[in-house]
Amino acid sequence: MTSEEVRSKYLEFFKERGHVVIPSSALLPKDDPTTLLTGSGMQPLVPYLMGREHEKGKRLVDSQKCFRAEDIEEVGDNRHTTFFEMLGNWSLGDYFKKEQLPWFFEFLTDIVGIDPKKLYVTVFAGDEETSIPRDDESVEIWKKLFSGKGIEAEAVELLNNTDASEKGMQNGRIFYYDANKNWWSRKGTPNAMPAGEIGGPDSEVFYEFADVKHDESFGKNCHPNCDCGRFLEIGNSVFMEYLKNEDGTFSPLPQKNVDFGGGLERITAASIDKNDVFATDLFAPIMNKVEELKPGLNDSVKRVFADHLRGATFLIADGVVPSNKEEGYILRRILRRVIAYQIAHDVHPDLFIEVIPLISNKFKEIYPEVGNSSEIVAVMETEKQKFKAALNKGLNELSKYDKLTAAHAFRLYESYGLPFELTKEFAPKGAADDLNKKDFEKELEKHREVSRAGAGRKFGGHGLILDTGELKAGNEEELRKVTRLHTATHLMQAAIKEVLGGAVRQRGSDITVERTRFDFAFPRKVTREELDQIEVRVNEIVEKNLPFRMVEMPLDEAKKSGALYVEGANYPQTVKVYYSGETLENAFSKEICGGPHVTSTGEVGKFKIGKEEAVSGGVRRVRGNIE
Ligand code: ALA
Repeated sequence: MTSEEVRSKYLEFFKERGHVVIPSSALLPKDDPTTLLTGSGMQPLVPYLMGREHEKGKRLVDSQKCFRAEDIEEVGDNRHTTFFEMLGNWSLGDYFKKEQLPWFFEFLTDIVGIDPKKLYVTVFAGDEETSIPRDDESVEIWKKLFSGKGIEAEAVELLNNTDASEKGMQNGRIFYYDANKNWWSRKGTPNAMPAGEIGGPDSEVFYEFADVKHDESFGKNCHPNCDCGRFLEIGNSVFMEYLKNEDGTFSPLPQKNVDFGGGLERITAASIDKNDVFATDLFAPIMNKVEELKPGLNDSVKRVFADHLRGATFLIADGVVPSNKEEGYILRRILRRVIAYQIAHDVHPDLFIEVIPLISNKFKEIYPEVGNSSEIVAVMETEKQKFKAALNKGLNELSKYDKLTAAHAFRLYESYGLPFELTKEFAPKGAADDLNKKDFEKELEKHREVSRAGAGRKFGGHGLILDTGELKAGNEEELRKVTRLHTATHLMQAAIKEVLGGAVRQRGSDITVERTRFDFAFPRKVTREELDQIEVRVNEIVEKNLPFRMVEMPLDEAKKSGALYVEGANYPQTVKVYYSGETLENAFSKEICGGPHVTSTGEVGKFKIGKEEAVSGGVRRVRGNIE
């Protein structure tokens, strides 16, 4: 089948079963500050899964645009993509397992025409810690479904990947795995989920590419969740029925929901029995065009072009602009990777103008926002102009090395935007032999921590680099506001430690003209009362109008003084410590920081603490503002 057929037949199939087709939400989530980009079909529907009534009813079906930035580095193999379409059907407190599993099975076997012998399924083995029971009901349903196709389906227990690669298939067709594999929430396992998050056991369907031989570097024996490429997950039925409580226990949601998600790219690949999503009609024309523009590139390079150009097209169409922050940075990363490959591999300069219309024409009927290919190309060309000079310098720089370390590779990446793979590939002969990705990633992580540490720098008069982000303040007034908020953030961190305990650790911070945002490690929700106490405490210090001073000292002395710092960050030997109070010893707050700050706490003005939420398991986020 073509992808158009799979998509339309899926929507039609569920329409016939009482579902209303809803349009895809944008990649930029609305009213959801917890994620940068929509990464699954359920994300825009969370309020409805939690019980709010949906105007289109209790049965919905859609094809949702998704983008998973965490998969950028995986792109190049036969199945990972950054952008993908997730086919989804939803029961909002309506049908459940005994309808969902048969329907999806029927869709795959009778509509798409997949041979049921090639399908294997997984189910939830239960979770002792949270007393969530194993899903024997789904096993019974699957047994009947396979038996209806003349296949005797045995259920076997595999639990986790270690256990599974030890035991292998054991002639099973249905496999129990633990919560690491067969539990779904936006935030991972029951244990990792923050309070207030919803989740549930799931049942996944895998397609077997019989001609792919198991690769033992992925484990002794193959099994559905093995990553060797023999099995491809093509659909996941999540039985979304639990809510995590403040005390770590789980309660049933007011309604039992189904959240089904299946990757269109993968179902299409299975429908043509091709173990490569880039061989489907979704990507083949792009791959061929790239081949035409530069014959002989290897597949993984072509896949990077195909995936990233498609992903960038959809991001730009939804209003993302390349920048150094948040989703703008994700777009910049994938675009610059493409541009770097284009230049280094000497691919024809018309790459964008040749490829983007193919993407635009393929998808504009379903997603009209990608219709304007010339505007999309213009955004890409502008980014290329910005990046080209630096990149060429980087390639020139690279040619001078005869031995590259991870730190060198990182410097080339940071200063010139040279992606790691490219550094490795284009280094002088022999220079990159010992260079590996893991060490490079360690360097990246170190750098992330440094930037979190908030070495504030002033540049160009009207701009600041503060903590994690770059802020372009429009004028002196905005600059002043951000400086006050920066000082307020120090006072807030000290107050948080007073109220919640000294063990609280900073995980990130971000300041804009509108607000300050502060992330810290803490195991539970912060109550409104505690937030009020923090706010009161900051305002007391503001009213006292303490001096806000800076002293420079050696790093170890600064640490000994009790000044806060970010663990693992790479500080210079001599650092600045900013503190509020007459002396460093008796200061209310002290932090290793680059500034800038106000000179007395009174200048901060009245401080208000805003909302508090979870960023991920064990990390909380608070916002604050000043009048
Ligand atoms: N929400 C489920 C997923 O993304 C269907 O896999």
